[in-house]
Amino acid sequence: MGDFNNGAVKAAIIGGEYVMTDSVVEVINPSTGGVLATTADCGPAEIQLAVDAARSTQKKWRRVAQVERIRLVREVGRLILRDLEDLASAESLQTGKPIAQGRRDIEITARYFDFYASVAESFYGSSFSLTDSIEVTTRFEPHGVTAHIIPWNYPMQILGRSLAPALVTGNCAVVKPAEEAPLTALMLAALVREAGLPDGAVNVVTGMGETAGAALSASPGIDHMSFTGSVEVGRLIGRAAAESLIPVTLELGGKSPNIVFPDADLDKAIPVIANSILQNGGQTCSAGSRLLVHASVHDEVVNRLAAHFAAVRVGPALSDPDLGPLISQMQRQRVLGFIDLGRDEAKVLSGGRSLSGGTFQEGFFVEPTLIDDVPQGSRLYQEEVFGPVLAVTRFESTEEAVELANATDYGLVAGVWTANISTAHQMVRDVVSGQVFVNTYGASGGVELPFGGFKKSGFGREKGVEGIRGFVQVKTAIVAS
Ligand code: NAI
Ligand code: MG
Repeated sequence: MGDFNNGAVKAAIIGGEYVMTDSVVEVINPSTGGVLATTADCGPAEIQLAVDAARSTQKKWRRVAQVERIRLVREVGRLILRDLEDLASAESLQTGKPIAQGRRDIEITARYFDFYASVAESFYGSSFSLTDSIEVTTRFEPHGVTAHIIPWNYPMQILGRSLAPALVTGNCAVVKPAEEAPLTALMLAALVREAGLPDGAVNVVTGMGETAGAALSASPGIDHMSFTGSVEVGRLIGRAAAESLIPVTLELGGKSPNIVFPDADLDKAIPVIANSILQNGGQTCSAGSRLLVHASVHDEVVNRLAAHFAAVRVGPALSDPDLGPLISQMQRQRVLGFIDLGRDEAKVLSGGRSLSGGTFQEGFFVEPTLIDDVPQGSRLYQEEVFGPVLAVTRFESTEEAVELANATDYGLVAGVWTANISTAHQMVRDVVSGQVFVNTYGASGGVELPFGGFKKSGFGREKGVEGIRGFVQVKTAIVAS
């Protein structure tokens, strides 16, 4: 990926053509603070071209035999694995994620294409006799043009999870990657063409959220939107979808708790809890950013986590550290701001500083940070930090654990650590979130696991067999003899 380091210019991909704009957007390498590449700064004109290209291609693509669409989508997955090293280093360079995580992300992305090709193999409508002379069949039809507005934290995984089911069911896509991390979406679009999908099946319009993203979400030519990102922008996307009256999937992050009961197997729990907040620098929608711990094991759990955090190797993405930099200077300022709040509202037990100079160069590094006795009413308890910052709160009873778990506006994921099967069932029933893990957290990429939010974490479900349903509409044919 040497060409990125030389500040390569990367054009948008519209209808199979490379399209450059006069103004450009710089992509910064978060590990060094240097410029990695520049991309097209698309506006309404490019968005219009992309939506038109998707529209005209979709008219043909929807008529391609299902078995052929399945074959081509599976081929995309194979090409992603063929180019795994190139894609992984680009992903890690642009996001700052450790290269091992970059590789994992690319494997999971390939798996989405393979998985949804398989799901489509047995994704049929139904048929029944309404009366002796009336036969009913249901069929699944694509929406048409799907828009995918993607964040910078897992650019490839998050794109793969909506693009694969969209394509295999006969939709064509316009993708707006995050301005911070647009490079792998462009590489993926090239692989989609190489696999043999038609030009215009996947169009990638790079550029800023406020311009390219806003123009795409407001386009009258789109039929469905998938968005992952902040609550603030999610609200704008929801409004745009309401204006056009199109379906939308919103995945808006969380403040997910790990909940540790006194009978938990701590040898198993501690490394998983630590990883759930340190993975990707805590910039994960489903990060385990709160720790609710029973008072009787509080001291032991906190001490062991502090020891774990102290041993974390921080460094640039390609050195494969445990913890890379945050995505941007702005994100680092945001995270340090929350840590300052922690100093006022709670107790910072370890970490808390930004790191620079030496191997850190001008990168955006922050130490893993453990903050204890975080009160329920505080911003640190309530708001998504998106950094390696774990907020700890203690509880005395199962009822209190449930109450604390549910005491934020979010409801994406929760982890429960207990050896007691009744406690486990009770927590699965009572914790308000889209996924509840028991004695594990995250589960190997989770391609197979339906995923999405309760409350302000969003709505609609992606991933799993369920995830394909969002990309079709049901047509019912009623035929009388
Ligand atoms: P963001 O929500 O602004 O960006 C996500 C995507 O939306 C990007 O592609 C961006 O270009 C696009 N976008 C931004 N403004 C838009 C607009 N007006 N219309 C259409 N598209 C628009 O998130 P940002 O600013 O990068 O991060 C801020 C915070 O959001 C983070 O600190 C974190 O708390 C949260 N976040 C959550 C994510 C998740 O996985 N749920 C991912 C990224 C951010
Ligand atoms: Mg933003």
